[in-house]
Amino acid sequence: MKTAYVLNGPNLNLLGTREPAVYGRDTLDDVVARCQAACDRHGWSLVHLQSNHEGALVDALHDAGRLHARGELVGVVINAGAYTHTSIALHDAIKATGVVCVELHISNVYAREPFRHHSFLSPVCRGVVCGLGTAGYTLALDALAATA
Ligand code: DQA
Repeated sequence: MKTAYVLNGPNLNLLGTREPAVYGRDTLDDVVARCQAACDRHGWSLVHLQSNHEGALVDALHDAGRLHARGELVGVVINAGAYTHTSIALHDAIKATGVVCVELHISNVYAREPFRHHSFLSPVCRGVVCGLGTAGYTLALDALAATA
């Protein structure tokens, strides 16, 4: 059975109470349940990690990279939160491991502050799901299946 990774970055543990007008009312547990349902549908196992620490997300990409090297990884859905807009380390980790990534944002970052308009991840991701709420996680996993 292949494995899909879903990585959530800083402050996403606060989903449900964090700026609900922007991010909605679903909690992180709700998001993980959505991802689990999508993975069950595709016959994949799910690894989910939420971390507020950039290095932990880098480590998780390295873990995913080891599965990728063995042909056991479907890909990675990554909502890197604010690290999207700052992290050369995450850009480099995606490039170094060669894992297929879909970048995800719950909110439409292009309709928000200009500092959210630049992503260090987009150039090394297969595609981007943005602004479709927490339903985007299911769409991103389906996109991994559709483009595998
Ligand atoms: C986010 C958008 C980012 O700009 C922000 O820093 C987040 C969440 C989103 O899911 O819409 O933490 O990635």
